[in-house]
Amino acid sequence: MKKIRVNTSTPYDVLIERDILRSCGKIIADTVKSRHAVIISDDTVNSLYGSTVKKSMEENGFRVSVFEFPHGEQSKNLETLSRIYDFLCEENITRSDILVALGGGVVGDITGFAAATFLRGTGFIQIPTTLLAQIDSSVGGKTAVDLKGGKNLVGAFRQPELVICDSNTLKTLNPEFLSDGMAEAIKYGMIRDEKLFDLIASHNIENVDEIIDDMVYRCIDIKREVVEHDEFDTGERMILNFGHTLGHAVEGYYNYSTYTHGCGVAVGMAMITKKFCSGEIYNKLVKCLENYKLPVSVPVSVKKLLPFCAKDKKRSSGNISYIVCRETGKAEIIRTTVEDFNALMGE
Ligand code: NAD
Ligand code: GLY
Repeated sequence: MKKIRVNTSTPYDVLIERDILRSCGKIIADTVKSRHAVIISDDTVNSLYGSTVKKSMEENGFRVSVFEFPHGEQSKNLETLSRIYDFLCEENITRSDILVALGGGVVGDITGFAAATFLRGTGFIQIPTTLLAQIDSSVGGKTAVDLKGGKNLVGAFRQPELVICDSNTLKTLNPEFLSDGMAEAIKYGMIRDEKLFDLIASHNIENVDEIIDDMVYRCIDIKREVVEHDEFDTGERMILNFGHTLGHAVEGYYNYSTYTHGCGVAVGMAMITKKFCSGEIYNKLVKCLENYKLPVSVPVSVKKLLPFCAKDKKRSSGNISYIVCRETGKAEIIRTTVEDFNALMGE
């Protein structure tokens, strides 16, 4: 088993092993004191893995109940959250009990936010089952729900007590969601690790399983390092947003219905690299994104996307930050006014 210790304000381990789900009950029992837990999952993931996790926890002395909601981003809202709170009341969950997020980033984000807010804080464990959730959203403590006005507008920082990654779960993932996660993996290579980038670039969506364990480990370790330096996202953590300013604009322009998050990030990384970097690095990035069936452009002018960049959470009082990787493995944070960014991108 591989283990990464994340030394944030409340430290925790990320455990990575194939088939670890079957023995997760023992690991959770060794980590937390309470023996009362609620598994929160979506319908797809619960039907695939819910009984394995529940059984393993019950065999290790836990009283477990399950809250399930319909899969998809449209469930990551205040209505689902309110139903979760009601369920936690019915189950008499106390501050020392634990919520177990079993699923992708949607499940992780809403469960984390419930854990941050219910009774002003309960225990919380992440069992991420998408590539994106394993290498990004389950680590680092960002939790949130969406509002009608935009994605992730209400949230809190709440680090989990444990993260359990089983890469076997990725085998049941729809290939589109695997590609989605690969956009984030490629991002880690671009911002911090040329060797990781080259490893990913020498594979493709058909044979990525050969490198998935090493890749997941390395990506999480990069996230660990960044989050340990800047847990509350006031500086260095912004490098994790490489490709995200334009990526969110692509998602938003198409009403979050045409391009997934990973596809948006892929286009965003390609656009910003084309604008600010050498042809050599742009071509390398594009080839790698295409290996994983990710888009590198969208059929809309940059000018039409720019108003959506101005809505990005990473802007503050008329300023915007964006990330440029002029060399593979090295990220630069550039802060500028929204006007200058628009002029640079739009010209
Ligand atoms: P998701 O949670 O919607 O999962 C994608 C789909 O895959 C869902 O339909 C789900 O039911 C299904 N699924 C999950 N695991 C499966 C498995 N093993 N086998 C088969 N199907 C499976 O989406 P996601 O891409 O994991 O996460 C996206 C969310 O993460 C967004 O809401 C985004 O805002 C959030 N996010 C948060 C952070 C953070 O730091 N907190 C970072 C990045 C993204
Ligand atoms: N996903 C970006 C972050 O955790 O900061």
